[in-house]
Amino acid sequence: MSSLISLENITKVYRSGLSDFHALKGVSFELNIGEMVAIVGASGSGKSTLMNIMGFLDHCTTGKYFFAGQDVSCVPEQDLAGIRNQKIGFVFQSFFLLPRLNALQNTMLPLLYRQTSTELAKEKALLMLEKVGMVNFAKHKPNQLSGGQQQRVAIARALVGEPDVIFADEPTGSLDSATGRDVMDLFHHLNQQEKCTIVIITHDKSVSQNCQRIVTICDGHIV
Ligand SMILES: Nc1ncnc2c1ncn2[C@@H]1O[C@H](COP(=O)(O)OP(=O)(O)O)[C@@H](O)[C@H]1O
Ligand SMILES: [Mg+2]
Repeated sequence: MSSLISLENITKVYRSGLSDFHALKGVSFELNIGEMVAIVGASGSGKSTLMNIMGFLDHCTTGKYFFAGQDVSCVPEQDLAGIRNQKIGFVFQSFFLLPRLNALQNTMLPLLYRQTSTELAKEKALLMLEKVGMVNFAKHKPNQLSGGQQQRVAIARALVGEPDVIFADEPTGSLDSATGRDVMDLFHHLNQQEKCTIVIITHDKSVSQNCQRIVTICDGHIV
């Protein structure tokens, strides 16, 4: 299996005023192409911090980060957004769909940010909505959709740009347990059938059970 992400001894220190907070204390982690991995740990253990670093939303303080074999530890701030848009799809607990846009328009957004033509963006977005079972809701605004349906649209938006990896941070955290299971089944299907590489961050043991590998983080360490 070939490596997509390799982290070597990553630390993250949040500096606020006089005190420093060590959120990650030397994390090493490997993610292979095609894997579906759960990162679990108590609230405050450092899961989102780790995802933000792997997803190019934030820099680590020290350590080495290799993405697809390339050392990206020292990529300048202004280049991060470009890498993020091309390589990473995000799914968040609170969906983050734009309320004024319908499901189709929300799904098209990542492509429009990369100057894909409207026509092609629409075609690809409809295909993704089909994959997540939401094509019949393409014209619906987020407030006309249930939580589970909104999360499906968010997953379509994460996938539409054909990212190398999807990071989902507590994707079932706002859903009842049956809907949460449906969303996890969808991730499982995307991993098995579409060969998507997926990292799911959760504090919920029942969510992680669906994943091939579980990585536990505790107080800024992988244990
Ligand atoms: N921007 C920040 N500034 C200061 N402290 C932060 C910041 N973000 C997170 N933290 C702290 O780092 C620790 C880990 O946070 P986080 O990665 O969000 O944990 P988790 O996602 O596992 O709940 C927490 O104690 C949190 O309060
Ligand atoms: Mg978190």
